[in-house]
Amino acid sequence: MFARAPDILISPETIALVRDRTDIVAIVSEAVPSLKKKGRTFVGLCPFHKEKTGSFNVNPDRGFFHCFGCKESGSAIDFVMKHDGYTFPEAVRMLAERVGIAIEETRDKAQITEADRQKKAKDDLYAVNQLAATYFEEQLRTNEHRQYALDELAKRGLVPGKDAKADEALQAFRIGYAPAGWDGLATYLKKHVVSPTAAETVGLLVPRSSGSGYYDRFRHRLMFAVVDPQGRVVAFSGRALADLPGQAPAPDQKPAKYINSPESPIYTKGQMLFGIHQARHAIRQAEEAICVEGNFDVLSLHARGITNVVAPLGTAFTTEQAKLLKRFAPSIVFLFDGDAAGKKAVRLSRTAVREAKLGARVATLPNGIDPDELAREKGSRAIEDLVASAKGMLEALMDMALDDTFVSSDAHERLDRLKDVLALINDEEDFVVQQMAKSYSDMLAGRLDIVRSGTGAFEALERKVKGDVAKSQPRRVAPFDDKTARIAPKPPGSEERKAIVGALVEYPVLLEDPEVEKELAHLEGPSVVVVAALRRAWNPDSKSLDTDAFLSQIPVGLQGFAARHLADPAMESESAAKGYLLDNAKQLKRLLLSQEAAQITREMYRAQGDSDAEFSHLKEAQEKILAKRRT
Ligand code: CTP
Ligand code: MN
Repeated sequence: MFARAPDILISPETIALVRDRTDIVAIVSEAVPSLKKKGRTFVGLCPFHKEKTGSFNVNPDRGFFHCFGCKESGSAIDFVMKHDGYTFPEAVRMLAERVGIAIEETRDKAQITEADRQKKAKDDLYAVNQLAATYFEEQLRTNEHRQYALDELAKRGLVPGKDAKADEALQAFRIGYAPAGWDGLATYLKKHVVSPTAAETVGLLVPRSSGSGYYDRFRHRLMFAVVDPQGRVVAFSGRALADLPGQAPAPDQKPAKYINSPESPIYTKGQMLFGIHQARHAIRQAEEAICVEGNFDVLSLHARGITNVVAPLGTAFTTEQAKLLKRFAPSIVFLFDGDAAGKKAVRLSRTAVREAKLGARVATLPNGIDPDELAREKGSRAIEDLVASAKGMLEALMDMALDDTFVSSDAHERLDRLKDVLALINDEEDFVVQQMAKSYSDMLAGRLDIVRSGTGAFEALERKVKGDVAKSQPRRVAPFDDKTARIAPKPPGSEERKAIVGALVEYPVLLEDPEVEKELAHLEGPSVVVVAALRRAWNPDSKSLDTDAFLSQIPVGLQGFAARHLADPAMESESAAKGYLLDNAKQLKRLLLSQEAAQITREMYRAQGDSDAEFSHLKEAQEKILAKRRT
């Protein structure tokens, strides 16, 4: 919509000069107050991860920082990019300005002048917004109708001057009041000699249709400032308040709950996140962002000490927004409302997180409650618990498709939902996640009694979808009794599988052993995931395991198990591990065979009357039993 400034290339000489002249210690100590000289380097508490003892080192001679804890490292330019969310050119410009270097650009004069002009025009827009934010804040303290805004805040338990955290949040979000008259802001801007065209461009003022003069866009609203990662006010969001006496609009003219600034050269809705500036440190520390739906949710959680929270400004979560977050953390937790709209929002955000390669989890709120209400009623602990119990995106989507309403829906609906689940699983690009999803679908299928548990429900699901669900036949399989459905029993063989996988984690070189390889076919469920992750992280050339890569690819629930085996191996040698592994594999095979034989016998009874089936079952059972004797 708006012409973007041409990307002016900063010359390599300028970049080198900025690197050389910048005092990295000065830059870093602004963000790391604990930074202290220690020999030839400086050491402090790392701003990129939580720690109690300093492992964050700055070497002024080399102009380089490095954290031994979280492994973040780089130059002063990298530091401000990572810490403050600057892009590379922004970081270079900012540092250049600090040390008084003129930016030398590798384009021709005309382009430079054009870029300069655009930069100046943008600076004017930031300045108007900045001034307006100050005005709205002041009105919240002084305007005769300010109580309406204060009442709305009080409803959320946010009373200025009562609680330090809440005050901090109100200030950070520059909460204010836009007065009811038509020209409060217009007059204020005029007094400060601000051009009304700049205010019009950012949408604060609207030209009167009569042709002369301007009026305020935001009237009698609670104002939230939308702040970009670097701390500049780029837009506003104004929430409706209770009607002023004698000014109630006709019912069909109820104003929108929110009025937002239109897009402008400094604001593109889908590229900004509400709260990103205020949340950026906490997001980095938590290594995860929480995404809620509403502005009030963000404010309310910040005011209660949960500060790694942002919201997508009323749009569907976009790829650009995911990429913006990715600058600060590798993953996101969606904490959307439990209603249909919230569920839809989760479904829609999948593409965005995938394209940005952002890890995503989903926490589900009770229906009809938003995070603001939950935090108010049950405290921030309730939010933290919900976030801690968030599920993987794929799992959450599968849950939505196969939720409690599945059982009561008609055959066509069921078929559609099963198809959705299969599509979700098949469509997953990450093999490890896909394997996990399959074993999760086993569990869901078992719970919903779609298929008998323990027989590879994914394949069975696939068969179901192709076959008899549409016909909605009466169940042939004996229903799962309720108790067993809820408390999932340890599947038979799980101990053996654990032993096999444990040995492999200790001696991943066994993956290359053909005898071992053959036995791995009997694994299923989570153990397959661990083996797949091992394979990926194993480097056959150097015979070494990338433990970080390995641990990051397995489900959280198994990380402790894996880490224990890595840190404190139980097996003395590769050959001992191999012997142990093969013993357990043998035992596992026995178990599976006897299980299968029993299963076949049971099915034989069910297939009563069908003598052909009976005969083939019988034959199969006999073969299994023979096979068992041979091992
Ligand atoms: N929104 C909007 N325009 C609207 C309604 C909503 O832009 N007419 C956006 C706002 O950014 C809002 C978000 O969508 O914050 C979520 O909407 P909602 O849940 O209705 O708003 P809350 O901020 O949660 O406000 P409240 O708690 O008062 O319902
Ligand atoms: Mn709300």
